[in-house]
Amino acid sequence: MKNQNQDEMSPMSSLEDWDNDVLKRYPEPGKPAKSKEEYRNYDSPEIDGVREFYRLNHKYQTYDNVLAKKANFLQFDKKEMPWWSAMEYLNTLIDDSDPDTQLDQLQHLLQTAEAIRADGYPDWFILTGFIHDLGKVLCLFGEPQWNVVGDSFPVGCKFSDKIVYPEFFAANPDIHDERFNTQYGVYSHQCGLDNVHMSWGHDEYLYHLVKDYLPEPALYMIRYHSFYSQHREHAYDHLLNGHDQEMFKWVDKFNPYDLYSKSPVAPVVSELKPYYEDLIAKYLPSTVKL
Ligand SMILES: [Fe+2]
Ligand SMILES: [Fe+2]
Repeated sequence: MKNQNQDEMSPMSSLEDWDNDVLKRYPEPGKPAKSKEEYRNYDSPEIDGVREFYRLNHKYQTYDNVLAKKANFLQFDKKEMPWWSAMEYLNTLIDDSDPDTQLDQLQHLLQTAEAIRADGYPDWFILTGFIHDLGKVLCLFGEPQWNVVGDSFPVGCKFSDKIVYPEFFAANPDIHDERFNTQYGVYSHQCGLDNVHMSWGHDEYLYHLVKDYLPEPALYMIRYHSFYSQHREHAYDHLLNGHDQEMFKWVDKFNPYDLYSKSPVAPVVSELKPYYEDLIAKYLPSTVKL
């Protein structure tokens, strides 16, 4: 992004720093949790980077930002390639993280999918696990981290104080716009999430990319997997309709696989590739337009 200050592009040394922050916020049940104070109040470059990332995300994720990003990226006119090549393309996303301790994107996707597969779920659910973060290719198209990852939330209405670091919304111009700063903003009571604009990022982008090909529960998992203020805190029950609430049971089912499937043992890509190529061929067109 040409007019974006370079310091604001990548405050985190790795996109995974955000995922790790979410994991600290929502630790695996049964595993010891660190208190909020414990994990935020010590000096570490990762924590400062994540904090700065949230500051930028909450400042710049406005209603107009979302409309502008949709107008650009939902054209899908950037690149076209076979699906597996797109997964490898995502893996060219190299950041400043330590390669010895950090799994790459493809490994996270395979671990998520393999954990779902091991629990005997239908194949479209496994495929969903495999592709759920492909939208992070937005980084490769020059988008800053704050427009690719982070907790997602509705824009066009009041920001919930259940969203992480709610104080950073003080710098978002939408809070001074009376169209957007009431509980319902441009929406109405239980109007349904299909009528709600979510903050821009890899979730919303991938949803539009695959919405004609996967069953509806898969689409909910993809579109709302970072909407923690709803699926963990129920902050937007006034916007969800009954159908959304039903479908969010699938989002809840998916979330632990995303957060808790990380293992230091890297999957062997060459062994798994034929299985995932078959899954792709069953549900998706031969090429993907990014
Ligand atoms: Fe994600
Ligand atoms: Fe993920």
